[in-house]
Amino acid sequence: MTSAKYRSIFSPSTAQQRKENFDNYWEFTQQHGGEFLEQDRDLVVKRAKLEYFQNHPVKLRTPLAHPEAFYRNYVDMQDEPASLDKITLLLTGMYKFARHEWVGIKGAWDVAPSMANCTNLEDKISRIHLAEEFCHVRLFDEMLKTCGLDKVEWVPLSPWKEKMYEQFPKFPGLLIDTPAFVTELMGVTFYFHLYRLFDEVLAGEPEVRDRLKELLDEITIDEIAHVGQRRNFIGDTGIKVAKWLVKPFYTMFFNDIPEVGQLFDVKKMIQDGEAFDFNTVPDYMIAKSWIPSYCKV
Ligand SMILES: [Fe+2]
Ligand SMILES: [Fe+2]
Repeated sequence: MTSAKYRSIFSPSTAQQRKENFDNYWEFTQQHGGEFLEQDRDLVVKRAKLEYFQNHPVKLRTPLAHPEAFYRNYVDMQDEPASLDKITLLLTGMYKFARHEWVGIKGAWDVAPSMANCTNLEDKISRIHLAEEFCHVRLFDEMLKTCGLDKVEWVPLSPWKEKMYEQFPKFPGLLIDTPAFVTELMGVTFYFHLYRLFDEVLAGEPEVRDRLKELLDEITIDEIAHVGQRRNFIGDTGIKVAKWLVKPFYTMFFNDIPEVGQLFDVKKMIQDGEAFDFNTVPDYMIAKSWIPSYCKV
């Protein structure tokens, strides 16, 4: 029997531990992403990885039967979701999830201080974090291109939703830290479920299935580190609130994406979020990611 190596992400921590963990995360994040390219909202190591994928493309053995169904439904669902084939639902659902991420970071990038104007370590960490999120959107775009979808546009949300996302990062830390953490946790939960769905939906397309997994791994490894990092912003009361927020937050967010109910078990995703403790994260991801000290046994 193997004993658990990690504690719940909702484990308590002291202010001193959190300070030390920010120092440790800062060391990690600099070597993880390499040089920060602020003008391009990019990082050297991550750019090189994306270029590798772009320079070694793989293709579907059988092109998508209904690319027009993707383009008709990817921004807003026009058809009855149950009438669409699973691969179309998978790709439109993945786009919609990534699109929310893209809108959120676009708003945050403009209000967050540039690296030169950061006055503390937390702000510097957050600046690199945002650049990583822009890399994720590029990786999602590459996933869609791998499936032959090269006319995808990243479309803003409805004006009031865009406004909401723009206002969010201007709130004081105390108010945004908890939902920001739960958002990262939701990302990790969703990506683990998405990874398993690739096996099911792309069983007849092993090259593309494996490539999508590689691209998703690049994202998930960052997101695992983000979960720990965002958790590190939160004190003892906040972390209890965060656990309580998992269910309403996941429910609200996933209700907004019609594909999710068709493809995923939202109840299980909520359970996985509430139970998250790094023990189910594969070793090859742990080796490249970051975990707060107080979540280690
Ligand atoms: Fe992300
Ligand atoms: Fe993230």
